[in-house]
Parts: sequence; C-alpha cells; structure tokens
Amino acid sequence: MKKAIAAFMIATAFAPVATPAFADDDPAATTLSAQGDATKGKRIFNRCKACHNLTATERTRMGPNLDNLFGREAGSSEGYKYSKALAEADFVWTEGKLDSWLTQPRAFLPGNKMAFAGLRKEQDRKDLMAYLREATNAGE
Ligand code: HEC
Repeated sequence: MKKAIAAFMIATAFAPVATPAFADDDPAATTLSAQGDATKGKRIFNRCKACHNLTATERTRMGPNLDNLFGREAGSSEGYKYSKALAEADFVWTEGKLDSWLTQPRAFLPGNKMAFAGLRKEQDRKDLMAYLREATNAGE
C-alpha cells in the first residue's frame, strides 16, 4: 500500500514533463556543473550564442536571454514570445532539467521551437553548465 502511494506521488510529480526524475532537480544542486570545465564550456556555448545572450541587458536574439537561468521558471524571460509548449511548461530550470533539455530538446519538451538537435556528449553538457553557472549570473 505505501509503495503504491509513493509510486503514484512520483508519477504525479513528474507528469507534466516527460523526463526521468533527476537527483539534482534542485535549483541549488551543482552536481553536474561541478564536474565541468567552464573554459571548455565557453567554447561549447559558441553553438548557442547565435540564438542566446546571457545577460538581461543585451538584446534578445532568436531565443530568449538566459540571464539567471538556474532557479528561474521555464518560459519566463520577460517580453519573449515562447512556443505554447514552453510558455505552458510548469517547471523550474535546474541542472537536471537543463541536462535533459540539452540532450534532446525535442524529446524533452515536444512542440518547443528551439531549432537545435542536442548535445549528445555528457561531458560537453557538464562543461557548458559550468560556464553557464558563471555567465548567467554575471550581473544585469
Ligand atoms: C537556432 C537557435 C538556437 C540555438 C542554436 C539554441 N537555442 Fe536555445 N532556444 C532557442 C529558442 C527559439 C528558444 C525558445 C523555444 C520555445 O519557445 O519553444 C530556446 C530556448 C532555450 C531555453 C529555455 C529558456 C527559458 O526561458 O525557459 C534554454 C535553457 C536554451 N534555449 C538553452 C540553449 C543552449 C544552452 C544552447 C546551446 C547548446 C541553445 N539553447 C541553442 C533557440 C536556440
């Protein structure tokens, strides 16, 4: 009986997003970025920067600015016109969520409009996250 309730609660908690539960789904958790190299991550960000700026004062490109990303509600960059999928997504960006998104954006959140196939190498995602931890908190 107890097991059944726990399974139900887990199923409900993760129902809105089709992604496995991550241990590091706490905005404060730095498990993945801690294993990354920010200098390498900065180079990997070259694959994102045609579409994303990292501070709020820079202009918006094709994608939303990623300032203060960790701990921020998904689809909440002010003034940016998101797809319905991302606008209605109900989760906060954590390293766990970002890891799933970057692995395969389309599978993580069907219907989103980010034209990016994904970063398949786990270490690339960790390096990128180490860089984003620094660069998305670099002031306004
Ligand atoms: C071709 C342009 C393009 C590239 C390249 C791209 N993105 Fe995006 N990104 C977008 C668009 C467009 C959206 C908005 C998607 C939507 O509304 O469905 C987005 C959304 C996001 C979001 C959600 C932000 C929020 O406010 O909830 C994150 C995080 C993100 N991208 C990270 C990245 C990272 C990291 C990379 C590089 C590995 C990357 N993107 C590469 C266009 C791009």
